[in-house]
Amino acid sequence: MAHILVVDDEKSICELLEITFRKEGHRVEVATSGEAARRRLESQIFDIVISDIRMPDTGGVDLLQFAKEMAPTAVFILITGVPTIETAIAAINSGADRYVIKDHELVDQLRRAVQQVSENLKWQKEAGYLRRELRRLTGLDNIIGRSPKMRAIFDLIQTVAPQSSRVLITGESGTGKELVARAIHENSARAQTPFITINCGAFPETLLESELFGYLKGAFTGANENRQGLFQAAHGGTLFMDEIGNMSPTMQVKLYRVLQEGKVRPLGSTEEADVDVRVIAATNKDLEKEIAEGRFREDLYYRLSVIPIHLPPLRERREDIPLLARSFLERFRKAMEKPIEGIEPEAMRRLEAYDWPGNVRELENTMERSVALESGRNISLAVLPDKVTSYDSGQAAAKAGRDGAVAFPDAGLDFEMVIGETERRYILAALERSGGVQRRAAELLKMSYHSFRHYAKKHRIQ
Ligand SMILES: Nc1ncnc2c1ncn2[C@@H]1O[C@H](COP(=O)(O)OP(=O)(O)OP(=O)(O)O)[C@@H](O)[C@H]1O
Ligand SMILES: [Mg+2]
Repeated sequence: MAHILVVDDEKSICELLEITFRKEGHRVEVATSGEAARRRLESQIFDIVISDIRMPDTGGVDLLQFAKEMAPTAVFILITGVPTIETAIAAINSGADRYVIKDHELVDQLRRAVQQVSENLKWQKEAGYLRRELRRLTGLDNIIGRSPKMRAIFDLIQTVAPQSSRVLITGESGTGKELVARAIHENSARAQTPFITINCGAFPETLLESELFGYLKGAFTGANENRQGLFQAAHGGTLFMDEIGNMSPTMQVKLYRVLQEGKVRPLGSTEEADVDVRVIAATNKDLEKEIAEGRFREDLYYRLSVIPIHLPPLRERREDIPLLARSFLERFRKAMEKPIEGIEPEAMRRLEAYDWPGNVRELENTMERSVALESGRNISLAVLPDKVTSYDSGQAAAKAGRDGAVAFPDAGLDFEMVIGETERRYILAALERSGGVQRRAAELLKMSYHSFRHYAKKHRIQ
């Protein structure tokens, strides 16, 4: 059975279709404006979207483009009251799967279309899955994002990938540095060659050296046989050096020399070997600051950072949150075989408002946990962690900064919620200050007892 979204500004059509498809056992949701449809598409996973072509606030064709982005696997059926060749062509060109005219056969036609689609659904889902897997292996499809910042990064990846230039990826923990490094490798001429990763922060100095450059038998106690280093193992391919900012000064010198000369010398050997390796380095440190404070070599920095890519923290690209949350939901509900279809609007609002210090990784873990805990059809507030539900975006706004500036996220903010949070915090603070005496708290806030009661009630403060 399919999960269907019906979009039409005519309520009667929505009701008619809702009743029809419910009767046939499908799950149906309706939206009577383009805006409402967008909100549904952001938070729910649909199999079929049936949409009117003409609505006061958005055209169905625009909506379809948005929907294709949000739900690339859904089937789209456009309906129209005024059939013209032009609208039909526009519909098909914009990727609609079917096109149905609103006449006395509308219901029958749609019923047949939906029936066919749901029979094919299983097959289509598999095909879609395979298609996506294929793209995942070759392209950028597993890096999710539609914010301008991420789009710029997609462009950059596509431009730099084919060349063999070194790339330095910076960004806070969990922003997707390793994902980007892999995408660069997979889009390069080296895609069929090894992609080897090493976490430079995880090894003590001498061990890191032998890992990277290898050693000959007898080079040091415990070197019982020859061992090839990662530079040689990655010959012809890509070496991803993670946490480069944690490398010791001595190792920095050694690495600089290898990058400069394109040769490595295994420990205990007198001979150097040529290596052709594309190095992609990553760090969550601010390397320019490390340089200024004498912890990172400037010459090495310029060797590594031929092309710098900075991944912005998630809180600076909140538009990506719904898309990421839904895609993690889709992954985990499949893995855990749970019948969860979406995220409740209030829960989504909280996800979008939270600061995500652990970035995408934290969101991924949060969604995994939420899918595991949720017993209903939608991820609800109840299963979100406290840190997310009690996150005070009012506090973030009030923290604001100097000179009357307010914290204003790129993606905008929920004004009502920010103001509401601020009210709630001051009411609570006043109560604390007054030892729980409400009249005194009202005085401290320079408001009437009556107003105080109003706010306390509004925020359910006892
Ligand atoms: N844009 C994205 N789309 C989908 N998944 C993402 C995205 N960014 C990050 N992830 C996921 O978040 C997790 C963390 O990403 P990744 O390991 O690449 O981060 P990182 O920047 O290397 O973090 P760290 O500095 O902690 O090593 C991974 O599971 C990754 O798949
Ligand atoms: Mg990493």
